[in-house]
Amino acid sequence: MSDPSKIGVILGSGLGSFAHTLEKRKETPYSDIPGWPVSTAIGHAGKLVTGWLGDTELIVAAGRAHLYEGYTAQQVAYPIREMMYRGMRTLVVTNAAGGINLGYKPGDLVLISDHINLMGVNPLTGPNDASFGPRFPDMSEAYSREYREIARQAGVLKEGVYAAVPGPSYETPAEIRYLRTIGADLVGMSTVPEVIAANHMGIKVLGISCVTNMAAGILPQKLSHAEVMETGDRVKDTLAALLRAIFPKLK
Ligand code: HPA
Repeated sequence: MSDPSKIGVILGSGLGSFAHTLEKRKETPYSDIPGWPVSTAIGHAGKLVTGWLGDTELIVAAGRAHLYEGYTAQQVAYPIREMMYRGMRTLVVTNAAGGINLGYKPGDLVLISDHINLMGVNPLTGPNDASFGPRFPDMSEAYSREYREIARQAGVLKEGVYAAVPGPSYETPAEIRYLRTIGADLVGMSTVPEVIAANHMGIKVLGISCVTNMAAGILPQKLSHAEVMETGDRVKDTLAALLRAIFPKLK
């Protein structure tokens, strides 16, 4: 296991290109890493990239696997274990999400303040490996308060609760009204298994959602993966600039 010195980053749908900007870059295709789930979703690159941004060493997962591809929650969370093994000390997760909060608009970057796990599964189900963490890990600050403050100071002004659903069908308008009622501001099909595994191992997490579309039933239009990818593409440079400003401050 290497020294825990690197910031781990998981890049969501359409956001993978940030990894190309690293200096002294080394890329490993996921298919070369035993146990790593290979993403089949369109818009997800499939490689683990290490490199530097100034003085910050990063380990970046460009593309992630999802439950809807047929992977188990344990498989989806496996990259967190592998990144830890390869020297990750802290984790930044990004994703594409539908906006439930009417104060959001497509293209907004929103700080994840907390999540609601509606996936029906948990990556820690099964025997607990106490060398990773406790049987019943605390989740009362799943997204570090300190990191959220750093991201706010870097200009991420919106904040919200991310509801994770299994997908792959998008939600119905009734489901979105339900999610709003239970306190969700964002909805997506990822992130939560990884964040649970990271918290279990005592890794602090910063989460940023890109609102790629307003959630079902909010606007008089249908949802499409093409819209999700287009919006991701439109904001990826803003997200990259933001991450670059935040990384050096994540202690
Ligand atoms: N719902 C679920 N997942 C998503 C959405 C959505 O509207 N947009 C991007 N990922």
